[in-house]
Amino acid sequence: MSTAAERRERLKDLYGEASKCVRCPLHQTRTKVVFGAGNADAELMFVGEAPGANEDRLGLPFVGAAGKLLDTLLGEIGLARADVWICNVLKCRPPDNRDPHPIEIESCQGYLHQQIELVQPTMICTLGNFSTKLLRGDITGISRLHGRDEVRVIGPRAVRLYPLYHPAAALYTGSTLEALRADFHRIPKLLDLGPPPQPQQAPSLPELDTDEGFPEPASEELIEASEAAAQLGLF
Ligand code: URA
Repeated sequence: MSTAAERRERLKDLYGEASKCVRCPLHQTRTKVVFGAGNADAELMFVGEAPGANEDRLGLPFVGAAGKLLDTLLGEIGLARADVWICNVLKCRPPDNRDPHPIEIESCQGYLHQQIELVQPTMICTLGNFSTKLLRGDITGISRLHGRDEVRVIGPRAVRLYPLYHPAAALYTGSTLEALRADFHRIPKLLDLGPPPQPQQAPSLPELDTDEGFPEPASEELIEASEAAAQLGLF
């Protein structure tokens, strides 16, 4: 069991790793890796689709028109970006904002799973089809699932998964915005439920009796990652 401070440090290391990622061809066309930002110990995580042009330029998630709507909706429920963790299925922008390709999702999903493991949210709001399908492991679309909370085991932990329409889809369609807003306004009550019951823990292994521990990452790398993380608003 690691402390919040340890998990935050590991998240910074993961950011350092992701910022040099060449796992899929998107590294050739990206300007900046958009790792994610917000509170590294947040109860609530939002997972969008992929960075767009503004995000690619600034290295931060949801900074365009869809992000402004997300900020407004967060404000309506008494939350700010500093309270939540926001990231995407893909950490690099697909050219011309095309849909993510399966190979890109597969190459990138390790980062998302590690983020979930390190932030340890009790609740994850998936925004739109791509994150909903990925985290549910099912092809059911967002129009059937939005606003229906369910408990899902993701990695070692159970989380409350709460699919929502993507804010970009709500920008131009009044009925989608209405549905997104109504679903969003249920978030505080769902958060009040607290963490869902956790799956039975595997019996823990006896502690290693060694002073050697694990090798420390190179210190320049850590500093580089933490400076970048500070710029990113990683609280
Ligand atoms: N749309 C997304 O899914 N993510 C962003 O970061 C911005 C727009």
